[in-house]
Amino acid sequence: MQEQLPSAYLFITPWYAQRTLRLKIGTSRRHVGKLFLAASLTALDRGFGGAAGEFEFVQGKRLDYPFLFCRDKRKPYQLVQELLTQHRNKEFRMRSLDPAWVRSRFPALSQEIDGRIPVFFDGPGGSQVPGSVIEAMARYLIFSNANAHGAFASSRRTDKCIASARKAAADLLGCEPYEVVFGANMTTLTFALSRAIGRELNPGDEILVTRLDHYANVSPWKALEEEAGAVVRVADIHPEDCTLDLENLKRKINAKTRVVAIGYASNAVGTVNDVAAVVRLAHAVGAWVFVDAVHYAAHGPIDAYALDCDFLACSAYKFYGPHVGVLYGKQQHLTRLRPCKVLPAPDEIPSRWETGTLNHESLAGLTATVDYLAELGQQISPSPSRRGALVAALEASRRYERALCAQLMAGLSKIPGLTVYGITDPARFAWRTPTVAVRLAGKKPDTVAKELGDRGIYTWHGNFYAPGLTEKLNVEADGGFLRIGLLAYNTSDEIERLLRALREITVEG
Ligand SMILES: Cc1ncc(COP(=O)(O)O)c(C=O)c1O
Repeated sequence: MQEQLPSAYLFITPWYAQRTLRLKIGTSRRHVGKLFLAASLTALDRGFGGAAGEFEFVQGKRLDYPFLFCRDKRKPYQLVQELLTQHRNKEFRMRSLDPAWVRSRFPALSQEIDGRIPVFFDGPGGSQVPGSVIEAMARYLIFSNANAHGAFASSRRTDKCIASARKAAADLLGCEPYEVVFGANMTTLTFALSRAIGRELNPGDEILVTRLDHYANVSPWKALEEEAGAVVRVADIHPEDCTLDLENLKRKINAKTRVVAIGYASNAVGTVNDVAAVVRLAHAVGAWVFVDAVHYAAHGPIDAYALDCDFLACSAYKFYGPHVGVLYGKQQHLTRLRPCKVLPAPDEIPSRWETGTLNHESLAGLTATVDYLAELGQQISPSPSRRGALVAALEASRRYERALCAQLMAGLSKIPGLTVYGITDPARFAWRTPTVAVRLAGKKPDTVAKELGDRGIYTWHGNFYAPGLTEKLNVEADGGFLRIGLLAYNTSDEIERLLRALREITVEG
């Protein structure tokens, strides 16, 4: 099918001022379908950073607007006209994710344990990794293993390895490499950041966290009560569907608020928060926004500039990579804030935030992880840029996971005595990841996890370090939840296997 793009109108969006162009696309005839713009991001190679995605048209009307960020203000109108001309005669259909191809890349998924192939529904605790990631880490340790900044080959290779990882993470997050800080994990990076922010606070300054969050995005801020005299307030949730209570959050943001710390998505119940809306509320009072994107990162593309958040952290082991934490910070904040550092360490960003020697082999693995995702994206929709391919991969993963989640939810609804916590209506799945928290009547979550584990199905149980949520829902004292976490390498057959097992466990009592 060929899609005509007869007209394009551009205007500068008011809230992004000089940096963003919104690209309006009109269709000349009645059209119902989707247009994917990842392929149009040759812009990325030409001084633009930014957006790609799927944009839905219903009878000629747009349901969403693509936009491009213009960093250097180079002839944006002309560029977009060029892009549209280039793509006028191209096919805009996207391929969907091929689970067989995805699975073939992960050696762990074909191993037998106790005579059968296990089902990995433990992704929110940590995903499996592609073979190419394992190889990249091994290759680093064989050919490049050294400390950084030396005058010899393996050290120079190490410098290159770090620079490549920074570029890869920047492509993943939609930012510049000098805005990417590496660390042991998200928790460690967040403690380092909160400590630096604490040096700027006055007693009585407020920090807002949420009841939905993992405590890696609560405890580092709570520490500032003791260290800086800050006051930490907690935004509440709607317990019936585990979504953030935005009215409650709005009421708690005021002139004293200096930081809003919010999760992009809940690792316990899957809720996706409207982070862009929270950023606007926080910025209206001059507060900074720190986003915990650890859970979200595997389930959808991240665009740090589009979110306009001040900081964002994630952890590669949740999105098919090794154990390494990644922090994005706006350049001006990373430059102005004073992290704790040893005197001889470099003073420029981002290195001044990186205490001690980095985990080089994990950084080699991180680059390979991003390249794996980009390879997936190229299959979905060929793109001239890695960023475009990454967006395509994560959009395709989201669509694929959403269908699996609908299948899981439909099956769970038929199991007697089973309660699902969080959003269950497929029409609202844009606001959840496929991470599903459940309880079975009369059974503790750890017992169910063990019974599933004995059948080769791996799930997690407990509070997942989000005790604010489990306490609010009155399940903390009783073992929390059983968490079924789907990723792009899971399949429909695996869901059927889980549903069968849950039915057996229910009947056995
Ligand atoms: C939502 C969320 N935030 C933060 C963390 C902590 O990440 P890390 O293990 O990298 O410190 C986790 C880990 O499970 C998480 O799921």
